[in-house]
Amino acid sequence: MSDSLSPVDRAKFAAAKRASAFVESGMKVGLGTGSTAAWLVKCLGERVKDEGLDIIAVPTSSRTAALAEEVGIRITTLDEARWLDLTIDGADEYDPELNLIKGGGGALLQEKIVATASDRMIVIADATKKVDTLGAFPLPVEVIGFGMRTTRMLIEELLDGLDVMGTKAEPRMTDGGLYVTDEGNHILDLHLGRIGNARQLALVLNQIPGVVENGLFIDICDVIVTGHGDGRVEMR
Ligand code: 5RP
Repeated sequence: MSDSLSPVDRAKFAAAKRASAFVESGMKVGLGTGSTAAWLVKCLGERVKDEGLDIIAVPTSSRTAALAEEVGIRITTLDEARWLDLTIDGADEYDPELNLIKGGGGALLQEKIVATASDRMIVIADATKKVDTLGAFPLPVEVIGFGMRTTRMLIEELLDGLDVMGTKAEPRMTDGGLYVTDEGNHILDLHLGRIGNARQLALVLNQIPGVVENGLFIDICDVIVTGHGDGRVEMR
């Protein structure tokens, strides 16, 4: 299948395929969101069909739920499952400490809840996601609609006093207006350039009342599976 893919898709597929081997029958598995996670869902769907892999999965978005059902994976809610053996998800950036920026696909809230409720989180990524310091990718922050302009102002004021390069918080837009998450909230993308202290930023952002959650995943990821355009895979 991978011969017909572009190098980036081949890298994503290679990472997803390798990570899918960590899934065993009887497991409760969190399924991430995004193009790399979609490859994982397809790989697991093949194992369900070909090997009778028997898992129950908790999807992190309506998109992933629809794909999982389409490929024959049994899904449930996190409230039903309560706790998961493993979550496998993509990332927008990861640093040498395995801290992440997530939420480019707008599902950071469910992704963080599901990954936190898992014994283990494996991240699958192509090699372009690897950085020395987080922050070149705009940091997504999920905010409620009420008072969103004030929340934005408070975030920009907060950023002004922190070890970041930029301070702009841009509302994420679609053709139809403000982007709406699965939970009915909106996203502010923070253009920071470089995040000097990601742990501190993750904590203080969530102190602002209109902020629901931010896309910094600190000490949540256990393993990164990185795919390359030639099909090679690295794990750490
Ligand atoms: C969705 C995410 C994705 O995992 C992240 O955006 C990476 O996406 P892709 O695998 O398409 O590069 O956090 O909210």
